[in-house]
Amino acid sequence: MAALRAVDIVKKLGNQAARLTEGNLRKAFVGGVWRDAHSKKTFLVYNPATWEVIAEVPDMNKDDVLEAISEAHTAQKSWCRITAKERASVLKNCHTRLLDVKDHLAELITLEQGKPLVEAQAEVAYGLSFVEWFAEESSRVYGDIIPAPIKGQRTLVIKQPVGVAALIVPWNFPCAMLLRKASAALAAGCSVVAKPSEETPLSAMVIAEVFAQGGTPPGLFNLVTCSRPQISEVSDAICTSNDISKVSFTGSTAVGRLLMRNCADSIKRLSLELGGNAPLIVFKSADVETAVKGTIAAKFRNTGQTCIAANRILVQDVIFDEYVEQLTKKVKGLKLGKGFDTGVNQGPLITPKAIDKVTQLVSDATSKGAEIITGGNIDDQLGTCFYRPSVITNMDPSMDMTHEEIFGPVAPITKFHDEDEAIALANNTSYGLASYFFTNDLRQSWRVAEQIECGILGINEGAVSAASVPFGGIKQSGLGREGSKYGINEYVDIKYLCIGGL
Ligand code: SIN
Repeated sequence: MAALRAVDIVKKLGNQAARLTEGNLRKAFVGGVWRDAHSKKTFLVYNPATWEVIAEVPDMNKDDVLEAISEAHTAQKSWCRITAKERASVLKNCHTRLLDVKDHLAELITLEQGKPLVEAQAEVAYGLSFVEWFAEESSRVYGDIIPAPIKGQRTLVIKQPVGVAALIVPWNFPCAMLLRKASAALAAGCSVVAKPSEETPLSAMVIAEVFAQGGTPPGLFNLVTCSRPQISEVSDAICTSNDISKVSFTGSTAVGRLLMRNCADSIKRLSLELGGNAPLIVFKSADVETAVKGTIAAKFRNTGQTCIAANRILVQDVIFDEYVEQLTKKVKGLKLGKGFDTGVNQGPLITPKAIDKVTQLVSDATSKGAEIITGGNIDDQLGTCFYRPSVITNMDPSMDMTHEEIFGPVAPITKFHDEDEAIALANNTSYGLASYFFTNDLRQSWRVAEQIECGILGINEGAVSAASVPFGGIKQSGLGREGSKYGINEYVDIKYLCIGGL
């Protein structure tokens, strides 16, 4: 059977992406049109489940980026002058059109990212919820009237869009993360230069075209796709441009640090949603069934490839055996396979490099005494990128896995004795994105909630993400918040007005 290609799915999008032909998939979306990249070069995109080529997309360079920034700069000048209600109406129209193509968008995500189709559908619903949320939020960018300190004066604050926002989007949620950033930026009155990951550029291309059909003016939303070797040229052009006022990045802490350094000369606003090393604590009063359900959600969503994935599971000694037994039973029931196959809920990891990293972390842990309860290896019958859902016990802090993001379907479990020990273990990390704990002791809930160092905390809950709540971390997990009423603040500047002589 011929391999499924991106164009086979894109064709099904009909009017909502009429211009996105096979030819235009090779072109750059800049200034509202699909045009050749300056170099005319393209790069290949692969299906991580099969390693078949699924598309060829433009390999853009510095000249393309500068053109995209210039288009965005011009478009923003008009976009910020229309009313918030008019911006909301365009975003609502984009939302309706994305709803029309949601099933095919999900298929494209499964094709390029590998996640099971049900998860891709959930990602699309999650992504679209940001478009709806920020369409509504655009009318709520309120200022302030401040009692003046001096007679005859009036003092107030207005909020204005920062300008052009560069959005650097990860491969793990190629649709939802783009929509989470872009909807907030557009709602605030900014324009956008978006760079999807080289692994997953296709859903971004569809979103760009649907946004254009939905009424975003030419130049307001531009897309920069590039291959790995081009990334440093492209990101340097973004970071050094004086016409980009804001960079929003989701990805590793190492790259976040680099971007921060590169943005220093032009003093850009930054939102950084970086790595995590989430603890998930199960206290003795917890309902073990709830804790196991929460662990499956927090650990195995997207086959462990989320920044908020539980990375260190800490279980109190008295319920340790019961928890491990119940969790192992559930993990053995997970179905690993190709994302389009029925019943599959665990897909491939994104690249062979990701598989190597998980393999190396597991082998480091076992060489230091960890015990594999289930999994612990690759399913090579399925392909090169399929790691079996795994449970590992006897973890200790000397193992690399307790400090590094696993980004795979491995649940490492550590035994602890009391609450103070659990909190110390949980906070023993330079990261501070998500944390989870399970308890039925109300006093303990408050004590622990106030001591855990993180930006997102699930209490008796493993699925915490939504458009209405703030997403972001502390410590080396980053800066700023996405989603929620706070997310739009990342794209506005505060201007203080002092009116005298009154
Ligand atoms: C992430 O992995 O960073 C995103 C997860 C989410 O938004 O739920």
